[in-house]
Amino acid sequence: MSQEKILLTGGSGYVGSHSCVALCEAGYQPVIFDNFSNSSPKILDRLEQITKTKITLVEGDILNFNQIVNVFQQHNIKAVMHFAGCKAVDDSVKNPLKYYRSNVSGSINIIDAMKVSGVDVFIFSSSATIFGDLNVNPISESATFSPKNPYGKTKLFVEEIIADLFGSGCFSNLAALRYFNPVGAHHSGLIGEDPKGVPQNLMPYLAQVAVGRLSKLEIFGRDYPTKDGTGVRDYIHVMDVADAHVATLDYLLSNGGYLPINLGTGNGVSVLELIRTFEKASGHSIPWSFGPRRKGDAAEYYADPSLAKKKLGWSAKRNLDTMCSDMWRWQSENPHGY
Ligand code: NAD
Ligand code: UFG
Repeated sequence: MSQEKILLTGGSGYVGSHSCVALCEAGYQPVIFDNFSNSSPKILDRLEQITKTKITLVEGDILNFNQIVNVFQQHNIKAVMHFAGCKAVDDSVKNPLKYYRSNVSGSINIIDAMKVSGVDVFIFSSSATIFGDLNVNPISESATFSPKNPYGKTKLFVEEIIADLFGSGCFSNLAALRYFNPVGAHHSGLIGEDPKGVPQNLMPYLAQVAVGRLSKLEIFGRDYPTKDGTGVRDYIHVMDVADAHVATLDYLLSNGGYLPINLGTGNGVSVLELIRTFEKASGHSIPWSFGPRRKGDAAEYYADPSLAKKKLGWSAKRNLDTMCSDMWRWQSENPHGY
């Protein structure tokens, strides 16, 4: 068991908060740094209830270099997990500068502050979206990069910065974890995904229909070349993503290196399959209808998770039933979020 302090930028958000729990369970001490632009400080109570630990939360912005350096000065930080950033694809098309600023400049700020503070273990939240619509599945780490929107490009740019830093010898412990589709919630039902406004993603939308906040789901497209005509994705339980962060941290602290890794289950699940599984888990029927395809959507993609298994000894453990039942526990016990 280690008592190392780990900085979680964006640690009060969806993936960061679940990773905070996994880090505590593994004996690390998380320090959360967040500006609450897409989360709430109310999460602290919930995290402390789950972990039975006092968690440090610092309000600050990754665009403010001095605030980050202050955190490094006040806490003896061993490693950084960098979750903070903006993540809405549509918004990135309308407001590209916002994304280049928060995701690229923000990441450079963090890395720069690490450099002046002598911290050299960095784990970056990347995305399967860097691969674009490849039409080659499963997607391995050697697949071609082809992001289709500014959000995806920011993730790829930061990955390229990380690769250059490794090449320069300035940093020797780096990882870029490309999440496929994280869903679900911690099994306690105390923390989960709490999108602002109408959810843009399938699972939170489904959950809000089931709980009665939204009236009906629209399925975007019925004529894709997939098993049932609807879009296919690799849904992965958010606690499996969180566990992968701990496995990556353990690996980097023992072995060092540069790890670009795809995080998925390796299973492709269609929209209709997810609806059926969610109906079973929640005991609610979900009204839905077919609508047109959503612009820019890929038909199908799922990960080749073999490198994660080989390098980290990690693979996803929770199945689709668990993703849906944990999501439902969170949504039904917190119908309006935090
Ligand atoms: P989230 O929005 O729930 O969490 C991000 C957190 O960062 C929020 O708490 C927000 O308040 C904070 N933040 C944003 N800008 C900030 C700033 N300038 N300074 C300080 N804090 C700031 O998102 P998430 O789903 O937890 O995603 C975490 C990371 O993983 C993001 O980088 C996202 O791009 C990436 N990712 C997410 C998914 C997904 O489906 N959830 C998929 C692939 C990659
Ligand atoms: N879908 C619907 N109706 C909805 C919402 C989604 O039918 O109301 C369908 C989509 O067309 C797609 C599937 O459900 O076939 C999944 O869509 P999501 O929006 O949940 O997920 P995406 O794979 O499109 O995108 C998400 C994030 C991206 C990220 C990507 C890979 O939004 O930011 O996963 O990690 F890059």
